[in-house]
Amino acid sequence: MVNVILLGPPGAGKGTQAKRLVDERGMVQLSTGDMLREARTSGTAMGRRVAEVMDRGELVTDDIVIGLIAEKLAQGAKGGFIFDGFPRTLPQADALGDLLEKMDQGLDAVIEMQVDDAALVARVSGRYTCGQCGEVYHDQTRPTKVDGVCDACGSHDLRRRADDNADALRTRLMEYYKKTSPLIGYYYAKGQLAPVDGLAEIDAVGAAIAKILDKS
Ligand code: AP5
Repeated sequence: MVNVILLGPPGAGKGTQAKRLVDERGMVQLSTGDMLREARTSGTAMGRRVAEVMDRGELVTDDIVIGLIAEKLAQGAKGGFIFDGFPRTLPQADALGDLLEKMDQGLDAVIEMQVDDAALVARVSGRYTCGQCGEVYHDQTRPTKVDGVCDACGSHDLRRRADDNADALRTRLMEYYKKTSPLIGYYYAKGQLAPVDGLAEIDAVGAAIAKILDKS
C-alpha cells in the first residue's frame, strides 16, 4: 500500500495520472477539486460560497478542505490514497501529516509534476471531462474516440469547467505560486519530493510515476 501526493499547478495532469493509478493499482483518488465541485451543487449556503470562490480561481478555506479529506481518510483504502490537489497550503500539509499519523500511516512519495505556464494555458483551455465518471479529455491531445461520447463509460455528459477561462486561470496560477509552491520546499526538506517531467506524453509521465512508486 502506498500513499502519494500529486503536486503541481492547474493543468499539470494530476487528475489524468490519478485516474491511471486508480485503474492500474486500485488506489483511491482523493481530489479536493472534485469534492468541492460536488459540494457546490448541494444547494446549501456553503455550496454557494464554495462556487463563488472556485469560479474566481481562489483557494477555498483550509478548514473546509481539511474536513472533507478527514472524512474520506476515515473510510480507508486498501491500495493506498492518491492526494490530487491536496494539500495546497502549508496548514493543509501539516493537517494531512497529523491525520495520517493518527492512522499509523505516512506519505510514501510527493510527485512534483513540472510543467511550464504556456503548456498549462493550452491544456486547461482544451480540457473537458465526463460528468458521470470523471474521465479527462483534451480537444487536441486526448479527444474522445467518438465525438461527444465518453470512451470510459459511454456517457454523453461531457462538460467544461467554469474556472477554465483566462481570468480564472491567471488567478489559479497566482494562488499556486503564492500558496502551494512553498510545499515543494516543505516536502524536499522531508526527503519525500520526487519531480517528474509533466511535459512528456501522458503514458511517459505515467511510467515515470510508476517507477517512483515501485521504489517506495
Ligand atoms: P482542482 O480541481 O484541483 O483543479 P487544479 O489544481 O486547478 O487542477 P486541474 O484539475 O485544473 O488540473 P490537473 O492537474 O488535474 O490536470 P488534468 O489531468 O485535468 O481545483 C479547482 C479549484 O478547487 C481550485 O482552484 C480551488 O478553488 C478549489 N480547491 C481544490 N482543492 C483545494 C484545496 N486543497 N484547497 C483549497 N481550494 C481547493 O489535465 C489538464 C488537461 O491536460 C486535460 O485536458 C488532459 O487531457 C491534458 N493532459 C494531461 N496530461 C497531459 C500530458 N502529459 N500531455 C498532454 N496533455 C495532457
